[in-house]
Amino acid sequence: MKQFKRTTVTSALPYANGPVHIGHLAGVYIPADIYVRYLRLKNEEVLFIGGSDEHGVPITLKAKKEGVSPQDIVDRYHNIIKKSFEDFGITFDIYSRTSSATHRQVASDIFKTINEKGGFIEKTNEQYYDESAQQFLADRYITGKCPHCGNENAYGDQCESCGTSLNATDLIHPKSAISGSVPVMRETKHWYLPLDQHEAWLRKWILEEHKEWKANVYGQCKSWLDMGLQPRAVSRDLDWGIPVPVPNAEGKVLYVWFDAPIGYISNTKELLPDSWEKWWKDPETRLLHFIGKDNIVFHCIVFPAVLKAEGSYILPDNVPANEFLNLEGDKISTSRNWAVWLHEYLEDFPGKQDVLRYVLTANAPETKDNDFTWKDFQARNNNELVAIFGNFINRALVLTQKYYEGIVPSLGTMTDYDKQTLEEFVNIKTNVEKLLNNFRFRDAQKEAMTLARIGNKYLADTEPWKVAKTDMDRVATIMHLSLQVAANLAIAFEPFLPFTSKKLRTMLSMKNFNWSDLGKMDLLAVGQQLGTPELLFDKIEDETIDAQIKKLQDTKIANETANFKAATVKENVAFEDFMKMDIRVGTVLNCERVPKADKLLKFRIADGLQERTILSGIAQSYPNPAELIGTQVCFIANFEPRKLRGIMSEGMILSAENADGKLVLIQPKVEVSNGAEVK
Ligand code: 2FM
Ligand code: ZN
Repeated sequence: MKQFKRTTVTSALPYANGPVHIGHLAGVYIPADIYVRYLRLKNEEVLFIGGSDEHGVPITLKAKKEGVSPQDIVDRYHNIIKKSFEDFGITFDIYSRTSSATHRQVASDIFKTINEKGGFIEKTNEQYYDESAQQFLADRYITGKCPHCGNENAYGDQCESCGTSLNATDLIHPKSAISGSVPVMRETKHWYLPLDQHEAWLRKWILEEHKEWKANVYGQCKSWLDMGLQPRAVSRDLDWGIPVPVPNAEGKVLYVWFDAPIGYISNTKELLPDSWEKWWKDPETRLLHFIGKDNIVFHCIVFPAVLKAEGSYILPDNVPANEFLNLEGDKISTSRNWAVWLHEYLEDFPGKQDVLRYVLTANAPETKDNDFTWKDFQARNNNELVAIFGNFINRALVLTQKYYEGIVPSLGTMTDYDKQTLEEFVNIKTNVEKLLNNFRFRDAQKEAMTLARIGNKYLADTEPWKVAKTDMDRVATIMHLSLQVAANLAIAFEPFLPFTSKKLRTMLSMKNFNWSDLGKMDLLAVGQQLGTPELLFDKIEDETIDAQIKKLQDTKIANETANFKAATVKENVAFEDFMKMDIRVGTVLNCERVPKADKLLKFRIADGLQERTILSGIAQSYPNPAELIGTQVCFIANFEPRKLRGIMSEGMILSAENADGKLVLIQPKVEVSNGAEVK
């Protein structure tokens, strides 16, 4: 494996159009922070770059909706996001933003260099234009029906329902998100990165030279490459973003996915104006991008192609992308407020950053999507952090306080059991390291937790509180060894639970520590005075968890109400118009499937005067139609008769759609006379 001198670690720049939630933390920022802390503990040269992604259509749409400027939106969320990261101990060397002057300069320079080298192609083609708003409709400014899954609210760049990436022209019944009008096609010129010309080297570089990348990352790259790469537009017709820095480009800005990853470089330059280049241009620097799975193509294919086209930059050595974290079984969604927001978590659980860090790492979506549940959060806190880690530390410190006034006692003769316990320790450092080096953070944390389990078991087995009645020399040895294990825990957990590690180090009066100290049993000197013991974790009660679950249930209800309101707002109708409809109750005399029509049921209805046949498209909701015979239904009696599948249908039966898409017949709860009017 290639040896590097230093490591540049980047983590995806979150869009500054909303606060950050547990999904962000679990997928990107905690793994990146664990890794960086680990390298720093090993005294390696490392730089950790973060920042907000402040361009792109979602930000302008939000600004329009609120009647403020895009700058107002990004100022608001940049500060909220930055504070959340600080609060959770994400130790960026810099957290800046893509609306900075440095970024505009760096992104413009990279664009110009590529342009001068002939690395773009300019193409004029037709794009959707909103005539009433007098503007071209990029990406999310256009919505319509997804051609793949039928979702009515797919965006011009992606359908969030089925995840397919789309072109605006793929949408069925496109609509402008600004005015709601139907857009027209108009010619416009854009700059394209000819990814097709980069395909050959990308194939070799990823598929042959980076077989070690995580399976989810490698697999996604392979499938993009196998489909064949197409030129990608790197400019947009928008008034928010970095202006395309060449003549005759009025009204054009850089596409957000062109400038955002360049933000990593700009932020490095902002931090280190004189020495930034070694972090981006020296082949002895290892570049790592921590991201979520929706960003893979941009970091593994598009951005490397941009860097290569520019010519003077290194390429990423690895892109350890994670899958997604769900919340209580549902996809996390900013627009549906289905999330645990970091700033709200800290209001409800002050000082418990490490509990969330622990649970999110224990459930990290490293190889597949994973689920966060409040019950699991409670169980991991109570059964692991409190009962194992906290319990061990507390007993070790309180007993040392009790028997030795908080002074590290000397090590006497070790028993075979002591030696055996120490042997179990030996491999843990190597195992944790191996796992961290392979970006397997959840297993690494689990392995580190083995240290606490060993310590806890050691105290439970040796029972110093009983031995104290007869043999204080033995107690000294037990407490000495236990305290050394506690000191090891403080080191092993620094990357994972930094707040806890710090508290523990204060309690143990540990000054200097390094990763290389892990595994040593002389970390605390005999005679050393320890600090005051405090509880590291406390139990989380059912009421606290129930309150969080209730909060989510309230969100669900609010969303359903909002959906209902949105779905029912049709134009008003006059009373006279409503009165034109003749809605009646009738009894089902017969009900059967219509051959070769999987959706249709044929009803024979007694309508009070006579019998009539009505066809209804609800067969999939009523797999056993015979059970409807004898029940009453509501139907529109004066609905224009029409022929379906050769059968004359005389009316329309009323039903309502359930949340799961199932149709439910509208039926009176008590029997009424056939032919009774519904008013
Ligand atoms: O998906 C996102 O949230 C993007 N804002 C990530 C950008 S990562 C990088 F390119 F800046
Ligand atoms: Zn779709």
